[in-house]
Amino acid sequence: MSRSPLPYNPKILELFRNPKNLGRMDDATVSAVAGNPSCGDMITFYLKIDEEKEVIVKASFESYGCAANIATSSILTEMVTGKSLEEAWQTSWKTVAKEVGGLPNVKFHCGILAVGALRRAIRQYYRIKGKKPEWLPEEQTFEEKQALEEEELAEMLSKRVSLPESEE
Ligand code: FES
Repeated sequence: MSRSPLPYNPKILELFRNPKNLGRMDDATVSAVAGNPSCGDMITFYLKIDEEKEVIVKASFESYGCAANIATSSILTEMVTGKSLEEAWQTSWKTVAKEVGGLPNVKFHCGILAVGALRRAIRQYYRIKGKKPEWLPEEQTFEEKQALEEEELAEMLSKRVSLPESEE
């Protein structure tokens, strides 16, 4: 019996217990972080890219997030492997949430963070290459903006609750 306090579906719990493609990728073409280490909700997404075809040949992640974050990151690595960077870019957090069988409302941001990290990695790749494909929007997408907002919020909270020196 599950002791999870949240109504996670069995697929999320299974991916949380047995995540796919978990771990640092030493030969990654590119990687990107989303989230903030000060609150622990942080994910790193690694991509190995066939640069000639612009296809993702391998994807992995490291997560300090919750079960929903681990499950959505895990399934996202499987969804984008073998896809072109453009196809991978189109993967929205809603598609990912659907793929894991649905997320509790309070856990939407965990899936958004996973997609935010993937999109940052794709942007980073083109930044390094000095290229800008026409399908890559100038403006940050919803997932990227949300990741940024979460980082700013965590930063603000960590400053607000820091103890005065006398209490440390
Ligand atoms: Fe923040 Fe899931 S990653 S609660």
